[in-house]
Amino acid sequence: MRYTPLSVLIGLLSVTSANPILHPRTTPTNTNNNTATTSNTAPCAAVSSAYFAPGNHDSTVPAQMAYDCIKSVPLNVTAAKSLMREMRPYINWQTTIAFLKNPPAEYVEKIQHPVDILAGLDEIEALIDSGAFFGEYDFGFALYRLIQSAHDGHFSIILDSVGDIFNFGRTVPLVSVSEDGLKLPAVFAYADVLGQQFNTISYTPSAVVQIDGQDAATWLENWSQWGILQDRDALYNNIFYELAQVSLGSSGTGTGTFSGGGRGRWVFPGANTTLTFANGTSQTIENYAHVLINMNGIDSGEKLQQYFNYFGSDAGNAGGEVNLHAVPDVKAAAAATGSGSPPGYPPIIVAGPSNLINGYYIDSPDYNDVAVLSVPNFVGDADYEIAFQATTRNFVAKALADGKTKLIIDVSANGGGTVMQGYDLFKQLFPSILPYGATRWRAHEAADLIGQSYSAAASQYPRELNTIQFYIQAMQSTYFDYESDDNVDYKPFTSWPEKYAPRVYNGDNFTGIARYNLSDVLISINSGGINITGYGPLANYTKQPFKADNVIIVYDGYCASTCSIFSEFMRQQGGVKAFAMGGRPNMSPIQAVGGVKGVNNLDWESIQELAQLGVRAASPEEKQRYENSVLGLDYNAYGPLIRTSSYSSPGCNVRDGLREGDDSGTPLQFRYEEADCRLYYTPEMTVDVTAIWKAAADAQWGGKGKCVRDWWPWSKEKREVTTTLGRSRLGKRGADDAKVMEELLKTFAIRTDNQLTGDGFMKP
Ligand SMILES: *[C@@H]1O[C@H](CO)[C@@H](O)[C@H](O)[C@H]1NC(C)=O
Ligand SMILES: *[C@@H]1O[C@H](CO)[C@@H](O)[C@H](O)[C@H]1NC(C)=O
Ligand SMILES: *[C@@H]1O[C@H](CO)[C@@H](O)[C@H](O)[C@H]1NC(C)=O
Ligand SMILES: *[C@@H]1O[C@H](CO)[C@@H](O)[C@H](O)[C@H]1NC(C)=O
Ligand SMILES: *[C@@H]1O[C@H](CO)[C@@H](O)[C@H](O)[C@H]1NC(C)=O
Ligand SMILES: *[C@@H]1O[C@H](CO)[C@@H](O)[C@H](O)[C@H]1NC(C)=O
Ligand SMILES: *[C@@H]1O[C@H](CO)[C@@H](O)[C@H](O)[C@H]1NC(C)=O
Ligand SMILES: *[C@@H]1O[C@H](CO)[C@@H](O)[C@H](O)[C@H]1NC(C)=O
Ligand SMILES: *[C@@H]1O[C@H](CO)[C@@H](O)[C@H](O)[C@H]1NC(C)=O
Repeated sequence: MRYTPLSVLIGLLSVTSANPILHPRTTPTNTNNNTATTSNTAPCAAVSSAYFAPGNHDSTVPAQMAYDCIKSVPLNVTAAKSLMREMRPYINWQTTIAFLKNPPAEYVEKIQHPVDILAGLDEIEALIDSGAFFGEYDFGFALYRLIQSAHDGHFSIILDSVGDIFNFGRTVPLVSVSEDGLKLPAVFAYADVLGQQFNTISYTPSAVVQIDGQDAATWLENWSQWGILQDRDALYNNIFYELAQVSLGSSGTGTGTFSGGGRGRWVFPGANTTLTFANGTSQTIENYAHVLINMNGIDSGEKLQQYFNYFGSDAGNAGGEVNLHAVPDVKAAAAATGSGSPPGYPPIIVAGPSNLINGYYIDSPDYNDVAVLSVPNFVGDADYEIAFQATTRNFVAKALADGKTKLIIDVSANGGGTVMQGYDLFKQLFPSILPYGATRWRAHEAADLIGQSYSAAASQYPRELNTIQFYIQAMQSTYFDYESDDNVDYKPFTSWPEKYAPRVYNGDNFTGIARYNLSDVLISINSGGINITGYGPLANYTKQPFKADNVIIVYDGYCASTCSIFSEFMRQQGGVKAFAMGGRPNMSPIQAVGGVKGVNNLDWESIQELAQLGVRAASPEEKQRYENSVLGLDYNAYGPLIRTSSYSSPGCNVRDGLREGDDSGTPLQFRYEEADCRLYYTPEMTVDVTAIWKAAADAQWGGKGKCVRDWWPWSKEKREVTTTLGRSRLGKRGADDAKVMEELLKTFAIRTDNQLTGDGFMKP
């Protein structure tokens, strides 16, 4: 199978839902006939009254009720067709279209199936034409699923129908743990593990062996594929409750995709979920939907439709009954993790902004020489950039002064952030190494025209930080001024055509290689305001603080975007070892970096701005040429921006990352790379993050590691499977046990809000 056709993708949906999400009509008689849905007014009225029922403090309703409601919104065929047409120009910017369709064999074998995005879009348009979509949601979900199947964290289209009205969830977060770090891991209800770790339960926790009557691991592997990551073990980890994700509050993936965190929130989980335990008992939980809008007066699918077409239709403006402004507690439910250490973390030694980066020690004589830099994010908020960079600088200085000789960098949950923060963290640790960082764009007409226009306009002015020509400076600091980057040899380009220099890989066109010029005077415009360590005012930082052997990186697989950039430098150029936690219940090696390895995303609004400015910047003699080009004609519609969820802008991966010395042109995204050591999660690690750091330190420096490879494969036959958890091996954990447990229980209320701040963003 060369690619996954949409019909197969749709087949997947029946796993999670009693009703298949698409109901193809058997006899499509009329393309615009939605009569079948217009009489179905009850479901939304039921949601509305459940939403306003006394005692409903958290705006939740049964999942099935919400699903029936959203499904009853009729499809606006005209709007759907213009949307499909208007989004095509943006799809041109996605760098991996050809590689997704025809990936390397190892990617197909170990990572994901091929997917033909362009054929999938054609197929959706044909389904609209044939009347096959039951309503707005079926259309929105088919589009969501197509793009999601690329498993590229930078590539997403979440329409209003999928992301703006309901988020789904299950009330029971799970974890996957090995009882002792050696037995194969099994799945437990996290509340059971809490009870066991803090000795508050009298029963022996028993593993979840089946979900909805199917083998639990098989069921979960299948569910995990709804996640944002590409790597299968990383996707598996992301199903579960994890302290690092929880430390990010509502901007992380919450309590895991099983319970509706991250991308789990956009998939209908069925009415109920039945868990069967190893001890023979079973439990059925009712799944829920979190209502994101004020349901006042919304008693039918048609009323709800006014939401979708609010900006485009008269109905939305004139209706008056739909209260568009009172969006309830989307953010309020996030637990207050902002003060002090995040739950399950030790006291902070050097604090960074908002728990995005913190320095810790391990309070135990055996680990006196180990410092830990926890970096669950690379910053999406401009206010935090300077403080984020300073945290490493201050912590490294303090750790060295306190006699620490070893450093663990824990990048668990790190979905990326400011690209230059990844470069900078590497430079702080390896000041003498020039990061390679080769990138390229997809070569297509609009990109070429923007480059021609920007380069012509920008090169007439000096390249300087203090200028009154901000409009010029904005162009000078993008990729599209040829002067803004270096070539593959780290030398300046001499013209736009030399930089653009299209070449063919895998049947598609790509620009030549560009590398960031770290001493560019305009670098701080792209870096959120920081200068890069080793350059400019920070040129005096020249001493490497730790030997490469004395540094390790710990991963949970959720390492994407800027985190993948940082990892590439650390592993390939710094020679630092990668420790990967968790994974599926097997004994195979796993990858460390499981998230997108594309090195830059752009939301469509930014692409639209680039294109429109390309026309405006043209000289008077050239104006006409640009106005009549794709730039002038294809980037003026606002439909694709308006119809997409207000919680997540549509975006593309616009830059591929490339490995030094690899002439094949294969983006890093399509390469499989194992970690140096794999460790299973244990029950302690789900309540106390220092248990993770100790296990990694033991394996690297203590000579008593439990790396899966260390004992594989000679003891394969003897490998036992975890089925129950005896009393906590740590016994009573300390005086404030009850407080810690209460804090952890509170985090169950965290709901993923906006993942944007966790994605590598940089104006090109
Ligand atoms: C819509 O379809 C129904 C049958 O499902 C049919 O009775 C009706 O005439 C159709 N309406 C239009 C406008 O074609
Ligand atoms: C069986 O295991 C489940 C899950 O740990 C637990 O809730 C239940 O109390 C156990 N039942 C018995 C009889 O031990
Ligand atoms: C999920 O399970 C269904 C059948 O139960 C199967 O058709 C599908 O391929 C599975 N999906 C994945 C991604 O494994
Ligand atoms: C789901 O659970 C609820 C409450 O436990 C129950 O009323 C309902 O019948 C169940 N639905 C299905 C489809 O099993
Ligand atoms: C359908 O969409 C079109 C184009 O956006 C809009 O003009 C029209 O009012 C919409 N129809 C309904 C019923 O909302
Ligand atoms: C690549 O560029 C060539 C030359 O401009 C063009 O003919 C071809 O259609 C392009 N290929 C793709 C996939 O866009
Ligand atoms: C980087 O950019 C600056 C101008 O901002 C230029 O002076 C310098 O030569 C460039 N460095 C390299 C290595 O290209
Ligand atoms: C970055 O360096 C420039 C000089 O190259 C300086 O003007 C600016 O203040 C520096 N920024 C910070 C945040 O230190
Ligand atoms: C580098 O220079 C700055 C400003 O002069 C100073 O504050 C800092 O301590 C110096 N750092 C090193 C490592 O020399």
